Amino acid sequence: MNNDEIKKNTKKNIVKAEKINKSFQSGHGVLEVLKGASIELHEGEIVLLLGASGSGKSTLLHILGTLDKPDSGSILYDEVDVNALKHNALAKFRNEKIGFVYQFHHLLPDFNALENVMLPGLIMGLPRENAAEKALELLKAVGLEDRDTHKPNQLSGGEAQRVAVARALFNKPKVVYADEPTGNLDNKTGTALLELFLELNERFGQTFFIATHNERLMEQIKLRYLIKDGIITNNS
Ligand SMILES: Nc1ncnc2c1ncn2[C@@H]1O[C@H](COP(=O)(O)OP(=O)(O)OP(=O)(O)O)[C@@H](O)[C@H]1O
Ligand SMILES: [Mg+2]
Repeated sequence: MNNDEIKKNTKKNIVKAEKINKSFQSGHGVLEVLKGASIELHEGEIVLLLGASGSGKSTLLHILGTLDKPDSGSILYDEVDVNALKHNALAKFRNEKIGFVYQFHHLLPDFNALENVMLPGLIMGLPRENAAEKALELLKAVGLEDRDTHKPNQLSGGEAQRVAVARALFNKPKVVYADEPTGNLDNKTGTALLELFLELNERFGQTFFIATHNERLMEQIKLRYLIKDGIITNNS
């Protein structure tokens, strides 16, 4: 293979985190959660993050998703060093480039499904009408176009989670982090949500990094990393 061929066969790198350290102060002293954790995610990949409860999965996802800062280590998105971005620039970067799906959906209770999905667009300054149109398309993609006027408390758990996925996709982020997105759902609903991730990945080519214990997903997705003792190893 010549250099050009090698390049063509190498998937584009989306995020590269190196030697991430993170400790928390607790009543029992310093708790070292991440101790030099490194990982690379590439364009279009679906990657699982496995690890015991308390091993640092949420901590890692929050740090990669720029919702929290590491004590040390670097996080590069396409050569952008997110640790160096100031508050406003970082918020803008996160809104445009990163989608986040939490274990509990974290939708805003006073806004209906459509409005919740529109929010990342409104924050970016998109006119309301355009944002609404795009949000409706996304609701359609997750099978919920007829739930647009429902407030979160008028949605089932699985529906609320699908709205949260639609919101995470609004700005066509390069990467979507999902923190045990099915942890709170029954098996069937959880499986349906995971099928949706697979479908959206096919359709929109986004990278998904998913912390999960879901066995069905573990059967289907072979690219896996394990977090243990503060470091990440390839567990594929
Ligand atoms: N803000 C904090 N202050 C102190 N300790 C924290 C804080 N956040 C997390 N921890 C501790 O860090 C460790 C890792 O937490 P984390 O939430 O990342 O685990 P997890 O792998 O996501 O677990 P689970 O599977 O239960 O969600 C835990 O032992 C937790 O108690
Ligand atoms: Mg967690």
